[in-house]
Amino acid sequence: MKFFADTADVDAIRDLNDLGLLDGVTTNPSLIKKSGRNILEVTKEICEIVDGPVSAEVTAIEADQMIAEGRKLAEIAGNIAVKVPLTLDGLKACKVLSGEGNMVNVTLCFSANQALLAAKAGATFISPFIGRLDDINMDGMELISEIRTIYDNYGYETQILAASIRTVNHIKDAALIGADVITAPPAVIKAMANHPLTDKGLDAFLADIKSGGISIL
Ligand code: E4P
Repeated sequence: MKFFADTADVDAIRDLNDLGLLDGVTTNPSLIKKSGRNILEVTKEICEIVDGPVSAEVTAIEADQMIAEGRKLAEIAGNIAVKVPLTLDGLKACKVLSGEGNMVNVTLCFSANQALLAAKAGATFISPFIGRLDDINMDGMELISEIRTIYDNYGYETQILAASIRTVNHIKDAALIGADVITAPPAVIKAMANHPLTDKGLDAFLADIKSGGISIL
């Protein structure tokens, strides 16, 4: 499973990348706004840190404009994935941009039928939003499962990028279902390493290291 950081915070991205845990980055207009940076500048900086796909989202809602913006974003670096919304215009832009050899991430997916359309439009990634479905008392993980089944039924190569991840259990459940990628806030990815028994066990070992005078170097 690939791990993408869902952030435009370059310090957090560098930190995760240094840990060796990062396969890519996703951004969106809200994350760019939060960074307080110019979209082209911050995206370029992120692309220089991370080798894997970096999703940068278009701002237009009409296909021709999305295509023009997508081409401009793709010029930033070879690892840009142009992010388009799951609308008919977005699907049209996806078809054109992916046909030109660009990676395309179709975002704001909330149904299996939407995901089927994105695969037919040649999307590299489909981004179903788990947390936002859970927020309205729907089952985000059920959507991941449905998309997995449909893509496997027909051999679609579009990668399922489980998005709007809020908890470590979202990541575990997406992995059990077979999502190809998760994108999550860096803090959630790092929290996967936490376990109270690890802390307790390490404390006991450290005490024995000290009282036993154990040293290696
Ligand atoms: C995905 O690409 C989106 O940027 C993101 O996962 C949305 O998450 P949110 O619902 O927490 O805003």
